[in-house]
Amino acid sequence: MANFNIKVNGKVRQVEADPATPILWVLRDHLDLPGTKYGCGVAQCGACTVHLNGNAVRSCQLPVSAVANQEITTIEGLSAKGDHPVQKAWLEHDVAQCGYCQAGQIMSAVSLLKNKPKPTDEDINAFMSGNICRCGTYTRIKAAILDAAK
Ligand code: FES
Repeated sequence: MANFNIKVNGKVRQVEADPATPILWVLRDHLDLPGTKYGCGVAQCGACTVHLNGNAVRSCQLPVSAVANQEITTIEGLSAKGDHPVQKAWLEHDVAQCGYCQAGQIMSAVSLLKNKPKPTDEDINAFMSGNICRCGTYTRIKAAILDAAK
């Protein structure tokens, strides 16, 4: 066990954890931020996507020791009232079906738009291909991203 300082959603938090603990479990179990989801645990599905210093990463494979003194943003910290332009577009297009993968989808979409404010269909397909949705909401995800980019 060791102590780590991490900045989560704008606040410095101190956690005591095994250095190998994936940040996913630190967020969910230590910091009571359950918006980030566990899907596969092996960096294949994207359900656990958060931002590390503003870029999308898979939190299930990222040990807490690797993110000490760095900035993590989760879905809970994306906006004050769930009103980030991407979240608004998600609601407008009624994207979610079961909803389980959607926090990860949104965090990836925000990261995409930060790096490519006007993405093409191909940009969206390429960037979002690592986020799996078992309900198959891909068409609505793409429409929401294109809308948020307007
Ligand atoms: Fe991390 Fe699937 S739970 S990528």
